Amino acid sequence: MQSKTAVIDFTMQSDKTEGLHVAIVMDGNGRWATRRGLPRVAGHRAGVAALRRVVERAPDLEIATLTVYAFSSDNWRRPRHEVQGIFWLMRVYLRLELGKLCQRGVRLQFIGRRDRLPLALLLDLAQAESATAHGAGLHLRVAVDYSSRDSIAEAAASAVNRLSLDLPVCTQLMRRALTEALTSEAGDVDLLIRTGGEKRLSDFLLWETAYAELHFVDRLWPDFDAADLDAALAEFSRRERRFGAVPRAMHTPIPSLGGAQ
Ligand code: IPE
Ligand code: IPE
Ligand code: MG
Repeated sequence: MQSKTAVIDFTMQSDKTEGLHVAIVMDGNGRWATRRGLPRVAGHRAGVAALRRVVERAPDLEIATLTVYAFSSDNWRRPRHEVQGIFWLMRVYLRLELGKLCQRGVRLQFIGRRDRLPLALLLDLAQAESATAHGAGLHLRVAVDYSSRDSIAEAAASAVNRLSLDLPVCTQLMRRALTEALTSEAGDVDLLIRTGGEKRLSDFLLWETAYAELHFVDRLWPDFDAADLDAALAEFSRRERRFGAVPRAMHTPIPSLGGAQ
């Protein structure tokens, strides 16, 4: 059942006008399955259903961009059959959901390395991206074989190739080049949610979350539903984001200083 939480005005919570960027570390699939005496891949399958619920609810909450962590570059350390199971489920998800995603105007994009993925998956990812390329609704970014450190290193290497300047100038330009390369149109993350109780980033969007609000929940990802997303966004709306400045209430011009800030 869809939650009836009132739509919250997020305009004060983000410097963007087109909606929020929410990122999710979808963690806890394995524990969900183990607690039920099931193989871990059953947890990943249940995790797919949770993703479907969240993707359906996101546009109601003024989320313009949703970036989800599906498979980290360190997840290659898992048993081969689990990795294969995860990739197989990604392909099933795309087969079953692509039509609906197109209808709803979702634009799919996959971030992360492509050179180590099985060919069949690679083709499905590329096909899903081109089929949804004109979607004007939710921008859904799925991180597969993703490592934030690798992305930063790659962006830095390509910037170094282009910039051969004095160190101070280079530092400024490098920062701009990295911001462009790493955040692209998705921009910085406003809110990062991690399910499953762990309080860490596990190499996810390290650059983009510099000023993100962090929301950790104990609930395991397969149990996460629309009401949990509503609750996360409601809590986010109560946070005061300062970006290094003073609280808004204190931000009044001082007449004796001629209003200079
Ligand atoms: C997250 O769930 C999904 C992936 C990493 C692919 P886990 O599989 O890490 O679940 P836990 O943390 O072991 O419960
Ligand atoms: C992070 O979860 C990766 C994904 C959710 C895809 P992990 O379960 O791999 O992270 P750690 O190992 O607990 O840090
Ligand atoms: Mg985990």
